[in-house]
Amino acid sequence: MHIRWTLLLSILLAHTVRSTPARRTYDTHDYYVVEHDPNTPDGASLGDVARALGVELVEQAGELRDHWLVRIPKPEVNKRGEGDSDPVVAAFDSLRQKAASNLAARDNDHARSVSFSTRTPSTRKAGTTACSVMKDFGIRDPLFSQQWHIVNEDDPEHMMNVTGVWEMGLTGKGVLSSLIDDGLDYTHDDLAANFDAANSYDFNDHEALPTPKTDRDHHGTRCAGQIAAIKNDVCGVGIAYDSKVAGLRILSAPISDVDEAAALNYGYQDVSIYSCSWGPRDNGEKMQGPGYLVKKAVVNGINNGRQGKGSIFVFASGNGGGYGDQCNFDGYTNSIYSVTVSSVDHKGLHPYYSEACAANMIVAYSSGDGEYIVTTDRGKNECATNHGGTSAAAPNAVGVFALALEARPDLTWRDIQYLCVETAQMINPNDPDWERMASGRMYSYKYGFGVLDAYRYVTVAKDWKLVKPQAWLATETIQLDGGTMDAKKTYTGGRRIGHGVVKSAIKITKDMMVEHNLETLEHITVKVWIDHTRRGDVEVEIVSPRGIRSILAGSRERDDDKTGFPGWKFMSVKHWGENPVGEWTIKVSDQQEPEGKGYFLGWNMVLWGTTIDPSKAKKYEVPLVENLLPANQQGAPSRPSIFEPTSVLHAKPTDLLHGGPGSAAGENTKVAFPSKTASPNAADDEGWLSSLALTKSKQRALVGAIGLLVLLNIGTATYFWRRKRASQSSYNALDGEDVPLGAVGNGGAAAARSPRRRALYDVVEEDGEETEDEGDENTALAGRTSAKGLGFHSSFLDDDEPLTAEAATPKYSDQPSQVT
Ligand SMILES: *[C@@H]1O[C@H](CO)[C@@H](O)[C@H](O)[C@H]1NC(C)=O
Repeated sequence: MHIRWTLLLSILLAHTVRSTPARRTYDTHDYYVVEHDPNTPDGASLGDVARALGVELVEQAGELRDHWLVRIPKPEVNKRGEGDSDPVVAAFDSLRQKAASNLAARDNDHARSVSFSTRTPSTRKAGTTACSVMKDFGIRDPLFSQQWHIVNEDDPEHMMNVTGVWEMGLTGKGVLSSLIDDGLDYTHDDLAANFDAANSYDFNDHEALPTPKTDRDHHGTRCAGQIAAIKNDVCGVGIAYDSKVAGLRILSAPISDVDEAAALNYGYQDVSIYSCSWGPRDNGEKMQGPGYLVKKAVVNGINNGRQGKGSIFVFASGNGGGYGDQCNFDGYTNSIYSVTVSSVDHKGLHPYYSEACAANMIVAYSSGDGEYIVTTDRGKNECATNHGGTSAAAPNAVGVFALALEARPDLTWRDIQYLCVETAQMINPNDPDWERMASGRMYSYKYGFGVLDAYRYVTVAKDWKLVKPQAWLATETIQLDGGTMDAKKTYTGGRRIGHGVVKSAIKITKDMMVEHNLETLEHITVKVWIDHTRRGDVEVEIVSPRGIRSILAGSRERDDDKTGFPGWKFMSVKHWGENPVGEWTIKVSDQQEPEGKGYFLGWNMVLWGTTIDPSKAKKYEVPLVENLLPANQQGAPSRPSIFEPTSVLHAKPTDLLHGGPGSAAGENTKVAFPSKTASPNAADDEGWLSSLALTKSKQRALVGAIGLLVLLNIGTATYFWRRKRASQSSYNALDGEDVPLGAVGNGGAAAARSPRRRALYDVVEEDGEETEDEGDENTALAGRTSAKGLGFHSSFLDDDEPLTAEAATPKYSDQPSQVT
């Protein structure tokens, strides 16, 4: 038996280096993910673990080392009661109890923390004319003259400004971008010769190629055309028309966490840029982010992708502007690892749909004011003339990065961001949303650092001096008036938020900077615990020592959520280049007529930037548990906790072709976050939104379709917890505390430990609770289960049939917003 396992393992290991994922059989099996470190000397082998749990090993989970996908045949219907009777969970529970009783007293209780995860299945150059450019570059593509984002004859200062880069001979040769999207029509003459089949995969149907299948599978093809449509006699051209594209189909059906994680790392040594035009629903009601495995995959891509230079993740900011949605409520766009891209229209104005927030890095041209992006479409030489939303802004940025990477393949993921900061062009200089940063640069929540200009970007990239590696400084966590939050998200204590403003400050000293090897500041992340009866009333901002203010959360008219901010992490790029030494003050307020009651319980910050001494650089790792307040509370969590079930089944675009939002005029006169708000003209819901409401039974069926159990080795959990504790005071202490698992096991207490040192992250299927997308955090642990919706960011520019409840499986939501 043992030998068989070992054999199987080595076969698996040999194959998982680069094999296509095994076909999933969700109808007959339940799937779980086991995190298991084979190097724990006295720990059980993966085979032992699998046997003890009664599961069958499937394969490594994507590119995540030591994470294994396992499965069991589905129990017969009716055999399963309410959650607790899951046989794998039961087996784990018993293992965990044995392990717990064997743990020495010295061990941290938290080491036994267990979490469960269900993953619902899821899902300008004046005088240049199109004509002269066609002549200069031998372009015959019939729709080229309509591609105003490449040559804008009416408004020559408003275009991606790529022709000057083509003149340098740069067209994206040798650069591969991967469209994480729905299908990609690789048979289209505009894409066939630039398609990279080897790095493509269909995660929805588990087939080798991302063939578009459903009626609505055209989004990925359109985005791909913007990047790499070939110079030929079909449609138009891509910005990097000699670059290659791969397609990873994840949006056409429900997808599990483990598959989403695998997709974000798929082909990550060959792929330079992942183009992501999707995210949680943008209706101004949600606050959601990636789960534990997905966050791990992103950090894995950053640390190990592209031979260590880091995968470049480009995310569309979202189309919820009309709903008062903000990209800081989306854990994908507010990640420091994403280049977050919003839109401006053909006149350089802010389109109503484009979301604002302090995590916005740049804007790129897209639809609005009746003009759209012209690109390739699915079907025999079909072309799209109505593509748009932030979904189309992001691929335009991807095209520009592909041009830059041809010239400078050595740029790291942070160089790509620095170049955005350095070269983005200010537009609408009289827009009151622009504010001066400490560095002297201008920043706008609507435009980020400004509009991406390919010529400037690539010119500066050519002589760019690579930045030093990343360093970070995690501050202490402040608890206000005894504020706490446990693993079940129960809040206690905290300072009452009345009509005024609750303030709290954290001081950063020069010594702390030196101690953490931190030289210059790039991003800041700010984690907050706020309990409130109406989340949409809460406003959060942080003021730097130099008096620069970042609004992290503006009020959101549609957000009635009662769960507050349970360790939610906001991000701001508005302090880039600022000297962070001094006092940072956070201000939390409720400026609405507050019947709403709220408490500010605690907060902390991480300052991210460059190292002083590159030889002491470290690589960041995702902590197992991130959101407890305080982090080292006694006894938490003592039983299996629940991971937020995230799911990615996306809704479809609505039929807003006629007179819809795409034709609304843009603006350049409004600040993104008026103080004392009441969001300006929050959109009227014209009724189609209500058609999105999902039937409970439909949701239940989906949630029931996959149970994903994440079993974590207890040794691993110990490791994480020790890191966490260490990080409370100082990351420099980390080295000392970073006890390798083996060493943990070999300590005095080790002998007492059984080989069963593993905790399990468990499942959660609650039948009946998951009516709505309630997933609310980017944090790993949650006390309840829910479904989360991701949607395309293309706005309703599509000619699809209207969304019906029937069509709208949970999380498949190309959630449009409406004109204001
Ligand atoms: C756009 O590109 C042209 C070269 O083609 C360059 O002269 C011009 O300065 C660029 N625009 C900006 C704003 O840099």
